[in-house]
Amino acid sequence: MRFSYARVPSMGGERGRETVFYSMYAYGWLASLLIWIISMIWYRGKINTCSNIDCAVKLSVYSPMIEAVRYHDVHFENSLNHSSPYSGFPTVETEEAWDNLHIGIKLRALNKSEEEPWKRLPSSISPSQDIVGGFEVFHQLYCLDLIRQFVYRDYWDYSENRALNATREMVWVYIDQCIQTLRLALTCHGDTTPYLMRYKNGTRTGEEPDFDTTHRCRDFDSLTRWAKAHSIRNPEFEEAKNHPA
Ligand SMILES: *[C@@H]1O[C@H](CO)[C@@H](O)[C@H](O)[C@H]1NC(C)=O
Ligand SMILES: *[C@@H]1O[C@H](CO)[C@@H](O)[C@H](O)[C@H]1NC(C)=O
Ligand SMILES: *[C@@H]1O[C@H](CO)[C@@H](O)[C@H](O)[C@H]1NC(C)=O
Ligand SMILES: *[C@@H]1O[C@H](CO)[C@@H](O)[C@H](O)[C@H]1NC(C)=O
Repeated sequence: MRFSYARVPSMGGERGRETVFYSMYAYGWLASLLIWIISMIWYRGKINTCSNIDCAVKLSVYSPMIEAVRYHDVHFENSLNHSSPYSGFPTVETEEAWDNLHIGIKLRALNKSEEEPWKRLPSSISPSQDIVGGFEVFHQLYCLDLIRQFVYRDYWDYSENRALNATREMVWVYIDQCIQTLRLALTCHGDTTPYLMRYKNGTRTGEEPDFDTTHRCRDFDSLTRWAKAHSIRNPEFEEAKNHPA
């Protein structure tokens, strides 16, 4: 500002017009600065107040299921030997609990432009012949369950699972693929939730980690409901398992 006023000797003639020009220039510059500052504040406000769903959309690759994302804080109960419907040696209850986790149904997927032999729904089910697909969370849970079944294979009959009712060599191939699937998923999500160590008499090291920590989680029930509501209601596709071919 000062530099333009400093040039004012009088308000007349050539120099006056020049001064008017310079002060307009300065005001224009100041106005743009103000607009810029205000929009930055507004923009930051927008970022800080984006709804969970808006943030989820920003932080995820595209998925039609993103609309089902809800967040809630969950306090994990995960100490050594903590029992849950999913833990321990196989029983009718554990098998049912795990079965309900990975939905073995197929879903209408997205359109893909690339020329690949995508599996399409018959026009009797879908006039636009949508491609058949699934969602990674269910594939990852399937993988965890496959590894679990492999661990307990001497204690339960898992021969209905095609991945385990295969040659020894192929079973290892499937198991290894599932271990890689979970490694990729875990490193991808990079859970930063901290846990603490505490002293504990009677343990081998005299200490133990406290894994009963609070996590911010996507509501799995909400995702499951969405997936079930959008599944293909057709026996041929409902029976299809997530994996393997
Ligand atoms: C684990 O829990 C079971 C049943 O609650 C108990 O019988 C067993 O001794 C526990 N094992 C260890 C290592 O704490
Ligand atoms: C796929 O594309 C067709 C043709 O453009 C469209 O009619 C159909 O709704 C699309 N399907 C999905 C799942 O987006
Ligand atoms: C396991 O595989 C064998 C050989 O392919 C087949 O005959 C049998 O029916 C399968 N068992 C089950 C329970 O699917
Ligand atoms: C462990 O045992 C020692 C000696 O008996 C005792 O002083 C200490 O308080 C115990 N620590 C915990 C965490 O229980």
